[in-house]
Amino acid sequence: MEKNLQVKREFSKLVNGMKPSAIDAILKAIGDPEMISFGGGLPNPESFPVEDVKKIFNDLISTNGKKMLQYGSTEGLNTLALTLAKRMKDKMGVDCGPSQIIQTTGSQEALYILGKILANPGDYVISESPTYLGAITAFRASGVRMVGVEMDLHGMKIDSLRSTLKKFPNPKFMYVLPNFQNPTGISMSLERRKELLEVASENCITILEDDPYGSLRFSGTQLPPLKALDRNNNVIYLGTFSKVLAPGFRLGYTVAPEDIVEKMKMVKQALDLASSTISEFIADAYISGGYLDRWIPRVIEMYRGKRDVMLGALEEYLPQGVDFTRPDGGMFIWVTKKGANTDRMLEDAIRNKVLYVVGSEFYPENDNHESMRLNFTYCTDEKIIEGVKRLGKVFGKS
Ligand SMILES: Cc1ncc(COP(=O)(O)O)c(C=O)c1O
Repeated sequence: MEKNLQVKREFSKLVNGMKPSAIDAILKAIGDPEMISFGGGLPNPESFPVEDVKKIFNDLISTNGKKMLQYGSTEGLNTLALTLAKRMKDKMGVDCGPSQIIQTTGSQEALYILGKILANPGDYVISESPTYLGAITAFRASGVRMVGVEMDLHGMKIDSLRSTLKKFPNPKFMYVLPNFQNPTGISMSLERRKELLEVASENCITILEDDPYGSLRFSGTQLPPLKALDRNNNVIYLGTFSKVLAPGFRLGYTVAPEDIVEKMKMVKQALDLASSTISEFIADAYISGGYLDRWIPRVIEMYRGKRDVMLGALEEYLPQGVDFTRPDGGMFIWVTKKGANTDRMLEDAIRNKVLYVVGSEFYPENDNHESMRLNFTYCTDEKIIEGVKRLGKVFGKS
């Protein structure tokens, strides 16, 4: 009889403590052609500047082909860092030099790296509640414990933050999304931004400001990022090309004090040595050649239209007692019904061929089931209307 020589696999405590995300179930259901999905956080493929990228790529491969196909440096392409520093100043009032910028493989990589370098396993990190699911996953992968702070329509509630800090006095950092937050679509008011910075300084807490959606504003006035308001060099700013160019580039950037950039480089070397040089070259030419500034208004116009279609359909087809946010930008609307359980409703939604992400996934403690996240950028207008009608039926039975 043959001996079984296969190793009895034992996984680390860390990975055994991680759970598969509900997103897996959603990705499976997306395969059904009749399904209308508000689930993914996907940009609309029509928002990708295919012709511009083709032209830039063709120019670059002839002029810079050999550099563009080589490994790059861990911190990223120097010319792109200079271009980003200038853009941060011109568009957002943030003063920084190229040595305060590190380019990463999407901002998701930066979230993972920052969790690793700023905290030890078991340490506390504060976030809005709800918050971005990918950040919860990235920080948890470092064994960090997350504590959520309640929000209202103006962002994180400062009185709740102060009482949380009494219970958890030494968080290693605070993670916030001031613009069109994922998942709620809510933006932090100017007053809240200032108060938040004040509390962070009083308590010596570093702030991670994640801003993938800031330049996708459809209405209301632009507000300065925390990084521009910060007088104490306490804010780390995360940007990405995923929502203004294309996520396939897998290119993000972090603006941070130099000591943080240096430590980030060390972990990035262990992860992927460097990000894609091809993406960095194209992104630099895309900004410097004025393509980005010409393209963003087109994306805004498309997404504003889709937001309005979804808001109109929600008004019309959701039963009384279901509430939803009215975001001024970004990609998401947050729908809430007091007493509902959107985890349980999902099965019925899938039967009715409509998908959403259950709200509980976005709560660090998974302890609130009354909401769902809807993406309004991906579907056609017709599908948005039909999908909301189907959701209306599902809510009607809840
Ligand atoms: C809030 C937030 N942060 C970070 C990311 C990661 O973006 P990427 O890794 O594509 O730059 C996303 C993606 O959806 C996001 O919504």
